[in-house]
Amino acid sequence: MLPSESGPWQEMLATFASTVGDAGYELIVTPTFEDVSVFTRIGESTDVVRKEMYDFVDKGGRHVALRPEVTASVARAFIQHRPVTPWKAWYAGSNFRFERPQAGRFREFHQVGIEAFGTADPDLDVEVVTLGWDFFARLGIDGVDLLVNSLGDATCRPAYRQKLLDYLLARRGDLCEEHRGRVEENPLRVLDCKREACRVQTAGAPLQVDNLCDECAAHFERVTAGLTALSVPYRVEAHLVRGLDYYTRTTFEYAGTTLEASQNALGGGGRYDGLVQAMGGPPTPAVGFAIGVERTLLAIGASGAAPRSRARLHAFVVDFAGGGAARDITRELRQAGFKVDRAFDGRSPRAQFKAADRSGARFALVVGPDEAEASQVAVKDLSGGGQRLVGRAELLETLRSMLDASPGASPPGYNRAP
Ligand code: HAM
Repeated sequence: MLPSESGPWQEMLATFASTVGDAGYELIVTPTFEDVSVFTRIGESTDVVRKEMYDFVDKGGRHVALRPEVTASVARAFIQHRPVTPWKAWYAGSNFRFERPQAGRFREFHQVGIEAFGTADPDLDVEVVTLGWDFFARLGIDGVDLLVNSLGDATCRPAYRQKLLDYLLARRGDLCEEHRGRVEENPLRVLDCKREACRVQTAGAPLQVDNLCDECAAHFERVTAGLTALSVPYRVEAHLVRGLDYYTRTTFEYAGTTLEASQNALGGGGRYDGLVQAMGGPPTPAVGFAIGVERTLLAIGASGAAPRSRARLHAFVVDFAGGGAARDITRELRQAGFKVDRAFDGRSPRAQFKAADRSGARFALVVGPDEAEASQVAVKDLSGGGQRLVGRAELLETLRSMLDASPGASPPGYNRAP
């Protein structure tokens, strides 16, 4: 990600931080690699753990892995530090999965996400799902489909799993090659298979949403009623099964309608009420999601949502009187909150003016030998509006009022949080 392309990336992170920060989620930073056992809990039968994890033995003989996702690390931190619940955290960082790289699928990719621990209240599911939805809306991305499902819990899933397995075993020979061999391992994954053979065979398969216990059914009803009440458009997608094993009850995905079908998941998540206990902690319900940064950037590009242009510089210092003025003025103005840059290497006035133009700055602050001698600065309007001489001591206040009066330029302070 080069500086010339990183504007939307920065914008996206800032939008995410404010969307979830304003809802009481606080930043957590977890290690990029941890003991491999932290991650094996997310599902021994999943591709993420079986085939895609970058695990290795380090020089101290420890078996570690680069994180393939962040949820397990946050759960590990929760168990280790036992914070007061409800505990709400957000994160941003890179993850690693040994996959076949293609558009929107990388071996190192980035996620932003939230996790909330300590309450089974379905209204928290609604909050989490809605925050992701609002995030995409704030970015101005069109074409996001919200798919929701319930995967039941330890009460109703075992019986459903058996029912589904019986159904699939009766059709085993007609499933795709991969699932013919692996159907017993994780029959639910077959429902989510994108291959035509499996899709045809699972069209009439029994669904978990029709086989929920009373508690799970009530939970799911409260979640969907909440989304409806908040006018968050969703579709119940009963074939939605996520690629990690820890989910219980609510699962959901934000699908980008402008992206290719095999990589159209912009993000996803759900409840994982059993994970903390499976990792050795106290029984603790939890829910969260992660959103793929690279995929979201693709969706921003595809939907033509205009990324905010680079923060415009207020001023560029052109100093051909030795460089001392540029050194001092940039510091002084930056400390006062202005966005300022300068040239280096004692370049010619012509080269410095060219750099000033290229920088997109509103004003050039020019100090040649005459200005230096008189303790003055020539403030030149780079959009062609002339030039005026200002005493060095008045520079800050004069520049502030010139920016105030200048259409399209925001003086320092304008773009800060209220
Ligand atoms: P996930 O569905 O595995 O969920 O990943 C979330 C998102 O990360 C995907 O929807 C996708 O946008 C992005 N992503 C995944 N793999 C790649 C890849 N190889 N290249 C580019 N982007 C990718 C999780 O990771 C769960 N931890 C989400 C969660 C949080 N569930 C509960 N809390």
